[in-house]
Amino acid sequence: MFDIRKIQEQVLFNAVKGASNDETAAQIVYGENGQASAEDNAAWVKFAMLRLETRFDRPVVKQIRMNCQCGYGMDERLQLVKKLVESSSSMEEFASRERARAAGLSCVDGELYLQFGFCPCPMLATVDRLKTNTWCQCTTGYSKVLFERAFGCAVDVELLKSIKMGDEICLMKIIPSEAVWGKEKLEKMDNFFAARVESYDEHMLTNVNGCKEAYMEMARLIPKSCKALLDLGCGTGLELDEIFKLLPDIQVTGIDLTQAMLDKLKQKHADKDISLICGSYFDVDLGAGEYDCAVSFQTLHHFSHDAKTGLYRRIVNALNENGIYIECDYMVESIEEEEFYYAENARIHNEMNLPEEAFYHYDTPCTVENQLKMLQNAGFTKVEQVFRLGNTTMLVARK
Ligand SMILES: C[S@@+](CC[C@H](N)C(=O)[O-])C[C@H]1O[C@@H](n2cnc3c(N)ncnc32)[C@H](O)[C@@H]1O
Repeated sequence: MFDIRKIQEQVLFNAVKGASNDETAAQIVYGENGQASAEDNAAWVKFAMLRLETRFDRPVVKQIRMNCQCGYGMDERLQLVKKLVESSSSMEEFASRERARAAGLSCVDGELYLQFGFCPCPMLATVDRLKTNTWCQCTTGYSKVLFERAFGCAVDVELLKSIKMGDEICLMKIIPSEAVWGKEKLEKMDNFFAARVESYDEHMLTNVNGCKEAYMEMARLIPKSCKALLDLGCGTGLELDEIFKLLPDIQVTGIDLTQAMLDKLKQKHADKDISLICGSYFDVDLGAGEYDCAVSFQTLHHFSHDAKTGLYRRIVNALNENGIYIECDYMVESIEEEEFYYAENARIHNEMNLPEEAFYHYDTPCTVENQLKMLQNAGFTKVEQVFRLGNTTMLVARK
């Protein structure tokens, strides 16, 4: 049978033992000669706390009691708080949500508070008044664990009011050690694009300086004799929209990491000769001598020099004798800018403790000069810049 007293004795025993030893834990929980087992719940709470306060300093007492939290209903509460965190962009918004208010949360002057209008502890049902807040610190411990898990950072909790000490409400202040919202967060590459797929085409055509013109320019640069085209990071196919206007019968192989982007492409060009591969162009076999032309548009500004040079080598190999590669991408002018973005990317990866092998969305544009060098180092014979509007830059590399 569920015996709340036994559970509480065990929890307190373990917490005291963690701060001292078995003998001390037994004395505090069961009394000097085990006499505490005769105490009713109300008396046991009162005297066990007195024994604790007599034996330890105030901060240790608080720590022991915070370690006594029972964890009851934690999973459900955590799910709720996490959902509220995800759907909010500030502490004010988080605390003003209906379910947050119903759970007793409020935000005053940017500070988060949690309150109860009743005492939730079954052990205090027959306790009229507590002299100290020692017993109630287990609730503080519970809230600390709950909010640390939900906020993903250390959280301090202060018990400000307690009904059993004569206050009208129980009130805690929840103090996260760092900003919960507004932290830099990188999204996984495919999640990033999948989340934006509906507005993607309009964004590229209206907000990214030079792209609209560059899609048309890329189409013009593809040799009229091109039969087989490889499109790396084809996305929703914005470059293909223009290419098909000039070369309606071209056979296209498109590789992209994001299925949602490929689905959009398929909808637009259901009648075209396209084979689509959902995967990373760093992994997919590009074949040898299979393509007359390869293109990539606004996709390679997320990777290191080494990764790109390795890919360029595989593109050289995938092209036939007179094949050409056309790359349009976000490129910068100064090496300081390039270095800044790589350093920021490394810093955020480090802070977020991200695995090296996964792709996260962060722009690391290279200088035009470095781009040209990488293509030459990979084995292209003639490499040149053919277009630049804003930072949108196009290079042509010949095998
Ligand atoms: C900015 S979009 C460009 C899409 C299209 N080329 C355009 O210009 O509209 C970048 C695309 O590259 C894809 N991508 C990023 N890293 C990739 C990788 N390692 N392998 C394949 N696709 C990748 C993304 O999924 C996304 O669809």
